[in-house]
Amino acid sequence: MNNILKKFPEGFLWGGSTAANQLEGGYNEGGKGLSIADVLTAGTNTTPRRITPVLEDGTYYPNHEAIDFYHRYKEDIKLFAEMGFKTFRMSIAWSRIFPNGDDEKPNEEGLKFYDDVFAELKKYNIEPLVTISHYETPFNLAKKYNGWADRRLVDFYVKYCEVIFNRYKNVVKYWLTFNEINALTMPFGTFMAGAIMPDEDGEISNNIKDNEQLRYQALHHQFIASAKAVKLGHDINKDFKIGCMIAYMCSYPLTCNPEDVLLAQQKDNLNNFLCSDVQVRGAYPGFAKRYFAEKNINIVMEENDEQILKEGCVDFYTFSYYMSNCVSADPNQEEIGGNLVMGLKNPYLKSSDWGWQIDPKGLRWALNNIYNRYQIPVMVVENGLGAVDVIEEDGSINDDYRIDYLREHIKQMKEAIADGVDLIGYTPWGCIDLVSASTGEMKKRYGFIYVDKDNEGNGTLNRLKKKSFYWYKKVIETNGEDLV
Ligand code: BG6
Repeated sequence: MNNILKKFPEGFLWGGSTAANQLEGGYNEGGKGLSIADVLTAGTNTTPRRITPVLEDGTYYPNHEAIDFYHRYKEDIKLFAEMGFKTFRMSIAWSRIFPNGDDEKPNEEGLKFYDDVFAELKKYNIEPLVTISHYETPFNLAKKYNGWADRRLVDFYVKYCEVIFNRYKNVVKYWLTFNEINALTMPFGTFMAGAIMPDEDGEISNNIKDNEQLRYQALHHQFIASAKAVKLGHDINKDFKIGCMIAYMCSYPLTCNPEDVLLAQQKDNLNNFLCSDVQVRGAYPGFAKRYFAEKNINIVMEENDEQILKEGCVDFYTFSYYMSNCVSADPNQEEIGGNLVMGLKNPYLKSSDWGWQIDPKGLRWALNNIYNRYQIPVMVVENGLGAVDVIEEDGSINDDYRIDYLREHIKQMKEAIADGVDLIGYTPWGCIDLVSASTGEMKKRYGFIYVDKDNEGNGTLNRLKKKSFYWYKKVIETNGEDLV
């Protein structure tokens, strides 16, 4: 009993993670329609991004060109292969396949683009991990139907799934139905995740005039869409592995006051476990029903909905993890920012330049918390440090801060494996610099590969290997043994 095995298993899926809207560009090429990401202006850490329902002359839209993966995917995939990627997480831009979302027929040119991308990955034996919807619903569905608030989106989504499942059934095995589906448990997710149109000022943040009824109804529609997609996917190819994707929000009680402890558990339930209980176990948990009753939220369901949820349980659990926060029952505590959610400062942790508290041990905690509950394979599909990088005179980029961040998180994944967690893969976020989702900035960089482009859209788009590129290559080569 003395041997504690702290090793990554054989065949562990090392790789990197991206999303079409933050990466591809070519926003109006190849028959692509506008997505909700294409109408978002640039913001900063303090100025929220805005939605402009009509594209404005003279306004900069960072996702339009993004980092031009649309034209440079061969070069980029070659670099991923050089690092030794076993898997590459990417999303399919829904509006490349169905430009308006409700079109009769899919757009062949869009489908062809992903044929080419998957062929290129195959060349290097890189397994694609595909997010079907990553904050990029066709904008027409937002305008015409008010996004996921309308049940008709379920059918549009399932039709889109049917097309891509059939088209790529021999080249893609791993699928995720919705990126960070639990973003809809927070006001911030209203537009980004729910494609529900915002107020006139177009601001997206947690400060918008919130409509919880609409948000949870939209979330219910996504649950139904996800469950139907899982069932359909398994019918099309029984070997498909289809997962959920949760933004895991690690909330610690600020003190040992039982009020704080209870509040932390309630947040964990509502913000993290509500969605995965539905997607993994196939039914709404009791605490959700209580919350809806107390808040007078009335989820309109169709007769078969409970059955649909039961029949569409996912095969594996994936999540993003960047940081942790504290919560307190005392309303006078001062809040700080974070990924999707605000929280309280933890005196034991340091923060990134964007105020996200760095907490590697929180990842071990999260992995145990998740696995104890579900006991299905788990994958960390987003993790990383958004930071400003500096190019030295000799052209090198010494991003030791990023290496430190990743190293400490990988160490904690190893601990979690030793705790018994069935962890199958790790795809750090933004393996190549891309447009930030929350702020639209380029200078908030996560990549192993630097992309020469600034916040205003200037730059050559040339790719440069950072110090972390060589470091991560070695990590993969040694299956996580050499972390120095
Ligand atoms: C996750 C999203 O919430 O965080 C990504 O799935 C996003 O799309 C990532 O880019 C990092 O957040 P940000 O705001 O720094 O880009």
